[in-house]
Amino acid sequence: MISFTTVNDLSAYIREIKPTKTIGFVPTMGALHQGHISLIEQSKKICDITVCSIFVNPTQFNNASDLENYPRLIENDLKLLLENGCDVLFLPSVEQMYPNGLQKNEEDYGQVLKLFEGLHRPGHFDGVITVVARLFDIVKPHKSFFGQKDYQQCIVVAELIKRKFPEIELHICPIQRETSGLAMSSRNLRLNETQKADALLIYKALEHIKTGFGQKDLPRLIDEAKEIITSSGLLTIEYLDVANAINLEPIENSNTKAVALAAVHCGPVRLIDNILLD
Ligand code: PAJ
Repeated sequence: MISFTTVNDLSAYIREIKPTKTIGFVPTMGALHQGHISLIEQSKKICDITVCSIFVNPTQFNNASDLENYPRLIENDLKLLLENGCDVLFLPSVEQMYPNGLQKNEEDYGQVLKLFEGLHRPGHFDGVITVVARLFDIVKPHKSFFGQKDYQQCIVVAELIKRKFPEIELHICPIQRETSGLAMSSRNLRLNETQKADALLIYKALEHIKTGFGQKDLPRLIDEAKEIITSSGLLTIEYLDVANAINLEPIENSNTKAVALAAVHCGPVRLIDNILLD
């Protein structure tokens, strides 16, 4: 695996390989787990060269303590990337990524930025748009790989690609879960065993919605799902709702392609998860 820390060095390498190799790109914030690795595996299947970036992006954290406490485990990340055959690692500094200071996107990306995560984490997606656009500009991939785990992020990235990078293919990869059902997340590292055991109720609640969707009255189904989560005194719900899977607007009828989305606090950690309701 070749590692780069500067934009100049990576750009020179990309210029050299791009004419003859298909470049797959997996952006991450590190503390890698099987969820991230599944994206690398997918890229390796269909690309010649897989580039993974690790960069804890300050502009997408709307909470200083979340940024401070975000796990940084570079030794373990390097080991996982090597074991899984990643070809290129990009590990830039904040100065490399933000040479002109920590400004972020000011363009209007529409209503989807004002719902769910956009509502609860103001400015978060503007930070994501900024960093992903910068990374796309540097890596210039043919294909990019994102996880369905961050469902709304996929919608936002799809819009970014449509507007600014129509040459880049977007591949959305399925959510990797622990055997308990808990969606894998770097933030799970901050959960103790009891919290982890209770956090799997989030997936149970989403599955409950999926099972009853189209059969039971929707508000009742959502209330039942909320009760599953709040049956644990350790969990508090930020949101749990069903929305149109394309634009996250409220669903009009049970024929709309829908997704159930949840954000739940478990001790000090905020967890998100979702399930498509086909
Ligand atoms: P991060 O949370 O590190 O996630 C990197 C990628 O891994 C994202 O596309 C995310 O959806 C995917 N991922 C995380 N957990 C997953 C799981 N359990 N199953 C499948 N995929 C999973 O998302 C970010 O970083 C950042 O916002 C980033 C896009 C890198 C921009 O800073």
